[in-house]
Amino acid sequence: MIVARTVADLRAVLRERSGSIGLVPTMGALHEGHATLLRSARKTDDTVVMTIFVNPAQFNEPSDLAAYPRTEEADLALAASEGVDVVFAPDAGEVYPAGFATTVSVTGPLAETLEGAERGRAHFDGVATVVTKLLLAALPDHAYFGAKDAQQVAVIRRFVADLGIPVTIVVCPTSRDTDGLARSSRNIRLSPEERAQALAIPHALQEVTDAAASGIADTEALRARALATLEASGIHPEYVAFVDPITFAPVTAVARPVLVAIAARVGRTRLIDNTVLGGA
Ligand code: PAF
Repeated sequence: MIVARTVADLRAVLRERSGSIGLVPTMGALHEGHATLLRSARKTDDTVVMTIFVNPAQFNEPSDLAAYPRTEEADLALAASEGVDVVFAPDAGEVYPAGFATTVSVTGPLAETLEGAERGRAHFDGVATVVTKLLLAALPDHAYFGAKDAQQVAVIRRFVADLGIPVTIVVCPTSRDTDGLARSSRNIRLSPEERAQALAIPHALQEVTDAAASGIADTEALRARALATLEASGIHPEYVAFVDPITFAPVTAVARPVLVAIAARVGRTRLIDNTVLGGA
């Protein structure tokens, strides 16, 4: 496995290889969820490139950026064990050199509601800008993302289509621990009590799924059920939203695929999770 620290080195390595390229962008602190993305890429692509870059531009809270786990040695070991060919791990100066003055910005409800509203406008600008740079650096055939970050995926699909970037976005199902909690690099910050409390999030999603399956289509009624489950565990969510999975416009009835998205703080840790109702 080769570790490239500059775009020039990454391109030099990729020039020597033939066949398809699969890109798995990460911010490191890898867990089983990342491993499932790497396995999907490994199955499909001749060359698997994984990136590790904790992108300062997408953090709204300096304390969140400072607290973000950095575990490069363990990340490289996991990447090697999953058969990654190339790791691109640049420093901030390589991605944002002096004089950097360009932002890729998706406008409208897709980027400005839910995570965009809670984390601030700059969050998805930061994601869109860095993912554009990573796609241009590696020029992959496929890029792999997890369904847990549903709004990030929708934003990425939007700018990839709008800018005509020649890549297929592959979305892999949310990876969950055996108790149902969505895997996240932030989970290690949860105390055992908080972790138990956090299970109310997947439970609320299941409650909504079961209620929708039993014929309840009104999303206000479904939201009330989710809120009751969360609040019974002492969780006061930032949002429980029912939206179109592509545009993120609010949906009032489950008549076609609807994304149910939850964001909540458990202790000091902010968690997100989602499910899709009505097929998709
Ligand atoms: O999902 C993430 O880990 C990040 O948002 C990404 C896509 C690697 C961009 O920094």
